[in-house]
Amino acid sequence: MQKYMMKLHENILLLWIFIVHEVSTDQHLVDYIAEHVTVKVHVVDNTALIDGYVQEYVSLSNTGSMDISNGDWKIYHNSLYGKRDEELHCGLRNHHALGGLYYLTPNGDKFKTFKAGETLVCIIHNRYSLAARSDYMPNWYVTSNDAEPKTVVSTMGEGINYVEDFDSYLRWKHGKTDQYKPYSPEERYDMYKMYDSPKYNPYKIVPTPWSVTSNRRVVMTFNIEEWMIVYSDAFKFESTYLADILGIAIHTSRASNKYIQFVKTNDSNLGPESYNLNIDAALENIEILANENPGAFYGVQTLVSLIEGCNGEMIAMNIMDKPRFLYRGIMIDTARNFKPVKWILKMIDAMSMYKLNKLHFHLTDDEGWRIQIPSIPELTEIGSKRCHSEIDGVCLPPQLGSGPHNTTLGTGFYSVDEYKTILKYADDRHVEVIPEIETPGHSSAAITAMNYRESKISRLESIGEQNLPPSYLLEMSMERNMTSSPLKWPRNAIDPCLNTSYKFISKVLDALIDIHKDVQPLKTVHVGGDEVPDGAWDESQACKENDIHLSTKQQQKSFMKQVADIASSKGLDIGVWDDGVYAEDKPDSKEDYKSENVYVYPWDTRGDKIKHTAEFADAGYKVVLSLATYLYFGHTQGPDPEERGLYWATRYTDTQKVFGLMPDDLYANVLEDNVGNTIDINTFCDGKICPILENPGNIIGLEASMFSENMRTEEEFYYMGFPRIVAMAEKSWHKASWEDINDVIERNKERDIQWKEFSDNLGFKELSRLDKRNISYRLPPPGVRLEENVLKVNTKYPNLLIEASNDIGKSWETYTESKIQAGSYSYLLRTKSRTGDIYSRSVEFKFAVSSSMTSSWSWSTSLIILTVISLLNLL
Ligand SMILES: *[C@@H]1O[C@H](CO)[C@@H](O)[C@H](O)[C@H]1NC(C)=O
Ligand SMILES: *[C@@H]1O[C@H](CO)[C@@H](O)[C@H](O)[C@H]1NC(C)=O
Ligand SMILES: *[C@@H]1O[C@H](CO)[C@@H](O)[C@H](O)[C@H]1NC(C)=O
Ligand SMILES: *[C@@H]1O[C@H](CO)[C@@H](O)[C@H](O)[C@H]1NC(C)=O
Ligand SMILES: *[C@@H]1O[C@H](CO)[C@@H](O)[C@H](O)[C@H]1NC(C)=O
Repeated sequence: MQKYMMKLHENILLLWIFIVHEVSTDQHLVDYIAEHVTVKVHVVDNTALIDGYVQEYVSLSNTGSMDISNGDWKIYHNSLYGKRDEELHCGLRNHHALGGLYYLTPNGDKFKTFKAGETLVCIIHNRYSLAARSDYMPNWYVTSNDAEPKTVVSTMGEGINYVEDFDSYLRWKHGKTDQYKPYSPEERYDMYKMYDSPKYNPYKIVPTPWSVTSNRRVVMTFNIEEWMIVYSDAFKFESTYLADILGIAIHTSRASNKYIQFVKTNDSNLGPESYNLNIDAALENIEILANENPGAFYGVQTLVSLIEGCNGEMIAMNIMDKPRFLYRGIMIDTARNFKPVKWILKMIDAMSMYKLNKLHFHLTDDEGWRIQIPSIPELTEIGSKRCHSEIDGVCLPPQLGSGPHNTTLGTGFYSVDEYKTILKYADDRHVEVIPEIETPGHSSAAITAMNYRESKISRLESIGEQNLPPSYLLEMSMERNMTSSPLKWPRNAIDPCLNTSYKFISKVLDALIDIHKDVQPLKTVHVGGDEVPDGAWDESQACKENDIHLSTKQQQKSFMKQVADIASSKGLDIGVWDDGVYAEDKPDSKEDYKSENVYVYPWDTRGDKIKHTAEFADAGYKVVLSLATYLYFGHTQGPDPEERGLYWATRYTDTQKVFGLMPDDLYANVLEDNVGNTIDINTFCDGKICPILENPGNIIGLEASMFSENMRTEEEFYYMGFPRIVAMAEKSWHKASWEDINDVIERNKERDIQWKEFSDNLGFKELSRLDKRNISYRLPPPGVRLEENVLKVNTKYPNLLIEASNDIGKSWETYTESKIQAGSYSYLLRTKSRTGDIYSRSVEFKFAVSSSMTSSWSWSTSLIILTVISLLNLL
């Protein structure tokens, strides 16, 4: 017996040594590749499609001293639009895992040892242009069997420095017909000329009030020591909020003759969001009159803006104000990249500053499920996490550069309490939260979580458990051949033929109603409806069993109808993306959907889809303009490969373009296609004139969409939002006088004058107000030009600093124009906020000054590089 035990121990020891040895070999390999294999990529030519794909060179260099032999190692990487699952000439294979996740791995015998010092050059095929650095994702990672995955060092961080410079038009063009090219520093300098001689109007308010009268000759000083606020019982929150923001004393009665007081009115001319702000500079008191709390709150915001701008010197003013649109919203996507509670609260504060009142909260998508549903715990147990796992039921696969671990913003959710914190914060500030649960498409996270729940139920069943938890199975297709599927997410559409799909939706809506009820009762739920891939349910077992053979569009229509039934039976209105209720070549009948109000969010305005907006309004839907061409703030703010953002709907959308939106004249906004080619609207809708909007009253507002594929960090999130959101708020609160001018040339002239006032105000006032609240934003890079031996610089917005570096960004100094000595120079230049640590990206400017003659050139425009140092400053 003793001897036998000895033997057993020995064997276990041997086995243990064997396992440890094996694991450590794999781990050693993973660690080695992560550290010593460096990645470099560049697109070959965005203007030439090969079999419909854009080719990209991926070079892997083995920079260490170890040869890498054939084996089970894999190098994972993410793609925004998808790549081809294919054998590569370099001896590797590029496999599609799921969604945007791919991995490179030795291709059987075709792989020869990857020797120390060697570089493998592979050509990969992309489904879309790669014309911007932010199209590429960071945090590639390596695995081998069950070794701990490691991030490839050369791909870490937000700099995306593994992508080579965009130094030719082949790399920065979005297709052959792209009309844009990046602006050179000189071109910027010339464009910014129109911003010369800025004017500061300290009493300008954004968004512009409906009516302002002022008398600059009646002036009073305003300082927080001498003034007080009279607490208002009717406007409890508003009066204390004002005291907090200004840091001013609040008393229950008038304790000084310099006071701000609230008056609750019952004036049938004032709507719930209207107010009257009266600044009596002679008597030295201020009154905010409103019928209801939202009005008082907006009066407070106007007053705060005036006080922050006026530098202690206030003039007599009377402001009567009311909004242009009832719906002034921001959609925040927390699924692609999670947004912690404190970012959301900060965004609500920013929304409040600019009188925005709807937070459309995109809580679910393929890449994540972000709200706790206590009755269905798997949704967050699995659906809120992204990590690399070899076993099911742990997390969703890494996406969008979230890397192998569950510690990034690929992972996260709002607990019921956290969500209530957001709700309360929003409700106090008169922001309605509209949660979005994406159905039936964009549901991979929920489907994965419910498949896992199903497997748990089956296990319980197999051991004879009687009380089985309810099933919420959402998808039950035949196994699909992933290799042959062109879809990024081959199984991401909730199955309309499964009864459990509807039980799931009902359960989730119950939970949302319950969470909202004590804080801000739920009125509207957004149920998604967009982008169901054609053929999504062709393999559905449930549809086969129930003998349902409808087109994808018809299936979806029947699904949306049932979802609307469920929602309306619970007293809810629904919101849907436009393609969710457009099954045929016209909007579905509004009567098909039982909810009293159906809010439609037209987003896809490419091609003649622009006409959908008018069609929906005329079919009785309430329309919230979410036009991807103007209001998708995941899109880039300039036609430059170094500018963060997407460009599928439009080549770029900057603040100026948002300011130019004309919500009442939909077709006037259609000027060019997504690569800048002019569009003739008269022949645009199937070659005919587009349908005229008969029911403008059904256009109820605007919404900026913050789809967050490329917003991993807080700075990236705010960089994409601001100052575009300020312009969007302006459009949704105020109808500009220029919008009503019929003559296009006159209209544009007047628009440009008003834009100039708006942008002067951004530079003098609003950006500092954002700085004060620690909200980042984008600053445009400076314009630069050498003129008569002086390096002339300018900025788009006034009141900013310019910094220069002559040591490739190691050190920076504030730049002031002066004569430059003879010599040749290489400068980096960037714009900086005067009141905060916000910088533009830097631009390179190389020039030479000779004693006899002046010459100037900037290296190819595409040499505008983002240096590591300026990045560190931006991030
Ligand atoms: C407000 O005025 C209306 C008539 O204009 C009146 O019926 C109503 O009672 C008033 N409400 C309050 C609270 O005074
Ligand atoms: C994250 O992963 C680690 C192991 O890799 C695990 O121990 C931890 O529980 C996970 N955290 C969450 C929130 O799932
Ligand atoms: C999957 O599709 C690919 C490409 O069409 C094909 O080569 C492969 O044989 C298929 N695999 C299976 C299991 O059907
Ligand atoms: C689904 O519901 C329908 C109608 O209520 C019923 O006829 C059918 O049997 C149900 N199917 C399953 C699989 O429970
Ligand atoms: C400002 O925000 C940044 C992140 O964007 C954060 O790191 C910093 O601590 C904040 N500063 C203050 C004063 O809140």
